[in-house]
Amino acid sequence: MAKRELAGSRVLVTGASSGIGRAIVMELVRAGAAVLAVARRAERLETLINECAGGPGKVLHYAGDVTQHEIRRTALVMAEQQLGGLDILINNAGLGAIGHFATASEARLRHIMEVNFFAPCEWTRDALPLLRRGRAPIIVNVSSVLGHRAIPRMSEYCASKFALQGWSEALRAELAGQGIDVLVVSPGTTQSEFFENLHEAQAEHIGGRRRGVPAVDVARRTLRAIERGAHEITPSSSGALLVWANRAAPWFVDWALARRA
Ligand SMILES: NC(=O)c1ccc[n+]([C@@H]2O[C@H](COP(=O)([O-])OP(=O)(O)OC[C@H]3O[C@@H](n4cnc5c(N)ncnc54)[C@H](OP(=O)(O)O)[C@@H]3O)[C@@H](O)[C@H]2O)c1
Repeated sequence: MAKRELAGSRVLVTGASSGIGRAIVMELVRAGAAVLAVARRAERLETLINECAGGPGKVLHYAGDVTQHEIRRTALVMAEQQLGGLDILINNAGLGAIGHFATASEARLRHIMEVNFFAPCEWTRDALPLLRRGRAPIIVNVSSVLGHRAIPRMSEYCASKFALQGWSEALRAELAGQGIDVLVVSPGTTQSEFFENLHEAQAEHIGGRRRGVPAVDVARRTLRAIERGAHEITPSSSGALLVWANRAAPWFVDWALARRA
């Protein structure tokens, strides 16, 4: 039995202008939810709104940088006034960088942590008062399989997703008594603009240019997990295999990755 209904739920999605976030918004509107879509590229958000027209749900947009306090505050006021509240917060905005740690700048580490870790934490902190008044509230953090097993040449990204994983686990326990769920989604390689939108690319990705699973598959599995109140999902079989192999034989995965580094 479903723990929550998507139809009629009020949802804020960050990183909604492309890839996984965009697919999540489209699936939510198809399921009858009211969505506030946030990202920096306003023209992309406007196109998304046109594509979602005709419902059954509805979508509004707000363009801004997720790392900015003022953007968070205004978006949450918009959710309260124009959606009538907030039931689901989806922290999806994120980006990567590729290259060896030793030759990278401090700025790269700080930027990746700012967008992928500090921003979801602060969106959550700011949204909690609204979520406490929501219906079957849930916080969804879009992490990565690289938040379970790190790979070379993406140290900052992996660190940001490990941080997101650890923080989410603590938060889940802290919020359990308040009836607020925390779901961590850990996709493997997914078809999106992730590799075009890298903060920096100073080397080749060790996985090469794998196509990955369609973003809509990740979106659909995320929505099913929200409905049933799951805590964790890994919506990619190759990603799940990496996590499993690392649990079973971490020394082997260390050896294999060191050979490719
Ligand atoms: N694709 C993969 O293989 C993969 C695998 C595992 C996990 N993930 C995770 O999935 C999430 C979505 O990524 P994606 O694959 O869909 O990549 P994407 O197509 O590049 O989408 C990233 C989204 O994040 C937004 N964003 C980035 N920085 C932002 C900022 N400072 N302020 C506001 N929005 C910002 C982008 O919007 P604007 O540029 O318009 O601001 C865009 O909508 C990320 O957290 C990523 O780490 C992806």
